[in-house]
Amino acid sequence: MYVKLRMPDGTTHRLEALEGWRVMEVIRDWGLPIKAECGGACACATCHVWVDENWVAKLAPPSDEELEMLDGAFQVDERSRLCCQIIMSPELDGLTVELAPESLADAPVEQLAVGG
Ligand code: FES
Repeated sequence: MYVKLRMPDGTTHRLEALEGWRVMEVIRDWGLPIKAECGGACACATCHVWVDENWVAKLAPPSDEELEMLDGAFQVDERSRLCCQIIMSPELDGLTVELAPESLADAPVEQLAVGG
């Protein structure tokens, strides 16, 4: 299964994912620059993504903690989720998300994954 990720600069990546992995982990482990400062503890909102509108209803609804954290993020709308709280499952094969600019980490170019 895979996740389709759009970066703030418009580039897209098709990232292979494993069941049970958090989308944040998939992005990070492919070497793409996501801040994810709290490491997936739902305590930072620096893994904010916009979920493609066709996928929003297929995700488990956000917890109160996630909604609380999203309150402090920028440009939040009905597609906003913290991607450390999205767990990959076969139903989510092809999940399409866009990384919010404030969740982009500074990373040297050579650390970026090749994909597309
Ligand atoms: S990584 Fe911190 S809330 Fe997702």
